[in-house]
This record gives sequence, structure tokens and C-alpha cells, in this order.
Amino acid sequence: MFQNPSCWVITRRTHTLRRLAPSPVSRSVGGLLRRGFFTSPARHVHSVEEVLSQEGSSSRPSIFDEFSLRGRVGVVSGANRGLGLEMALALCELGAKIYAIDLPSTPSHEFKTVASHVKAMGEGRKLEYINGDVTDQMTIRAEVEKIGMKEGRFDVCVAAAGILGPSTPALELDAREFEKVLHVNANGVFYTAQAAGREMIKFGNGGSIIMIASMSGTVTNRDHKWVAYNTSKSAVLQMARSMACELGPEQIRVNTLSPGHIYTKMTAVLLDSQPELHAKWASSNPLGRLGLPEELRGVIAWLASDASTFCTGSDIIVSGGHTIW
Ligand SMILES: NC(=O)c1ccc[n+]([C@@H]2O[C@H](COP(=O)([O-])OP(=O)(O)OC[C@H]3O[C@@H](n4cnc5c(N)ncnc54)[C@H](O)[C@@H]3O)[C@@H](O)[C@H]2O)c1
Repeated sequence: MFQNPSCWVITRRTHTLRRLAPSPVSRSVGGLLRRGFFTSPARHVHSVEEVLSQEGSSSRPSIFDEFSLRGRVGVVSGANRGLGLEMALALCELGAKIYAIDLPSTPSHEFKTVASHVKAMGEGRKLEYINGDVTDQMTIRAEVEKIGMKEGRFDVCVAAAGILGPSTPALELDAREFEKVLHVNANGVFYTAQAAGREMIKFGNGGSIIMIASMSGTVTNRDHKWVAYNTSKSAVLQMARSMACELGPEQIRVNTLSPGHIYTKMTAVLLDSQPELHAKWASSNPLGRLGLPEELRGVIAWLASDASTFCTGSDIIVSGGHTIW
């Protein structure tokens, strides 16, 4: 397992197919790309409420309704690929209209495939691409304002754009390199959350802001010289707590999601060039493996939706237990 990219794909496929089997509507980005584009996806979730209503007991609420984002509007930064795209897909599956903000002037092939899939699911779902740099406060604010004006509401923000930066000893790290990582990972997350919060206040429906931090904000990664990255992620944790306090009275919740080691293009740069890292990282958690992007779908659905309405200022660590050792 996890010895090289091709094994990783096989492992992912096995895992995803096994997980997808019971539910025709559950599709990860990886699953979509590997299995091809589904032109006629299943349109209905067979929720408890539907089952009960068929038996004439529709007054009883269903847990799935609490996860619904039908008609809700949101932004996900860094969603051209990786964890951001996986999260954007999960939100769209729940019914949301999601706008992705990322650096490339045109979206990636994976993004376009997922956006077409979302469009085919219908029922108001939407995944649109916006070219933008999260470090540009005024541009991000203007883009998010445009979304609010166009859709007439604003409910969800996932600030996922981030960079790892160089692996350099702390005593030798150049100021510009340090600042660059902080600029994207801390300032960029703040500008994105700030822009979204302003729209949420404007429309008065409350909202959920989720900042993608990292377990590296809580623990340091053994043998890796990532002082800038680790510092930036700790900053995000405290940023979320601070904003949660300020925005709580407006029923705007602010939480962080802190993933552990997950194979994406960000980590592939290291894992593909140093294959021994697979086993090292995998053995750093009790589950004995790296995480999969789609293993964040459930937690992002919970944090973004009304299933978590009493959760704010919290950091949810999803790391296979890396931080408990
Ligand atoms: N992969 C992991 O193991 C892991 C673990 C913990 C936390 N994270 C965090 O999750 C988030 C997503 O990581 P990923 O693994 O999907 O990485 P990724 O490199 O695949 O995706 C990051 C995305 O952010 C975009 N981005 C970077 N700078 C930007 C900017 N200035 N403006 C707009 N977009 C920008 C990139 O273009 C890219 O699409 C990051 O914040 C990362 O720190 C990842």
C-alpha cells in the first residue's frame, strides 16, 4: 500500500468502490475521474424522511434534512483540485451552489469534469469557477460580493487554498519565503473568511465558515522543516476562534478542519520523490495509512450544514489519530 502512485491509485479505487457500493449518489472526485462522467446520476437521496413519508409519517424529521444545503450558496477557495475540489463536490451533492476560487486562469480538467457532473445532478446545484488570488483582499471581497449579488444569499465558506512552502531549516529560512507561506495560508484564509462573513451579515441568514488548517497547527511534523507552514496553520486555528467570538451573535459559525496526511498534488511532490515517506507517514497514526481526500466529505458536510448548528470555534482534527500518539 502507498508505495508508489500506481499502487495508490489501486488502493484508492478499491477503497472508493467499496465505499460507493451501497449508495448510488455517493461520488468522490477520484471516483468520478476514474469511472468516467455519469450522464444520468441518481437524483434522489433515499432519506429516512422519504421512507417515512411514503408510509404517511412525514411529520417526523430526518437526520438527512439537517445536512441538506439545497438552495444555499457558498465559496470554496483552492477548489481547482485536491481537497478543495473534493469538498466543493460534497457541498454540491448536498444541493448547494458553489463558487470555486483558485489561481489558474482556466479551470483544470478535473474541475470541469466535476462541474459537469454537478450540472447533470440538477435541482439547482451549481459549481462555477472564478479565477482569483486569495492574497488579494480587495479582489476576493469583490468576487464574493458579486456572488452574493447574483444569488441573493450567502451561506457557506470553505477557505482551503494553501501552500506547503519550502523545507528549509528555520535558522536559514529567507524572509520572503516565510512571508509567502503566511500570506497565502493565514492572510488568504482571513481575506476569504472576511469577505464571506460580510456577505453572510448582509443577508442575515447566519452561515458557516470553515477554515482548512492542518494537524500541523497543533503538532509539528517529525523530521520536516516546515516552520512557516506550521506557524501559518496555528494562526488559522486562533483566527477561527477569534472570528467565532465576533460573529457568533450573528449566528455565523467559524470552525477549522485539520486534516492529517492525505495524498494530494501538494503532498505528492514529497511522496513521489521520497517513496519511503509513505510508510513513515502511514505508521504515524493508529490506522496505519494515509487518508483519502474523500474521507473529508462527511465532516465538511456536517460543518457546512445545519447538522452542526451548535458547533463554533472548534477544531476538528481528521488525521487517522496522528495527534493522539
Ligand atoms: N494534503 C494534505 O495532506 C493536507 C493536510 C493538512 C492540511 N492540508 C491543507 O488543505 C488545503 C488543501 O490542500 P491540498 O492538499 O488539496 O493541496 P493542493 O495543492 O492540491 O490544493 C491547493 C489549492 O490551493 C490553490 N491556491 C494556492 N495558493 C492560492 C492563492 N494564493 N489563491 C487561490 N488559490 C490558491 C492551488 O492552486 C490549489 O488548487 C491546504 O490549505 C493544505 O494546507 C492538506
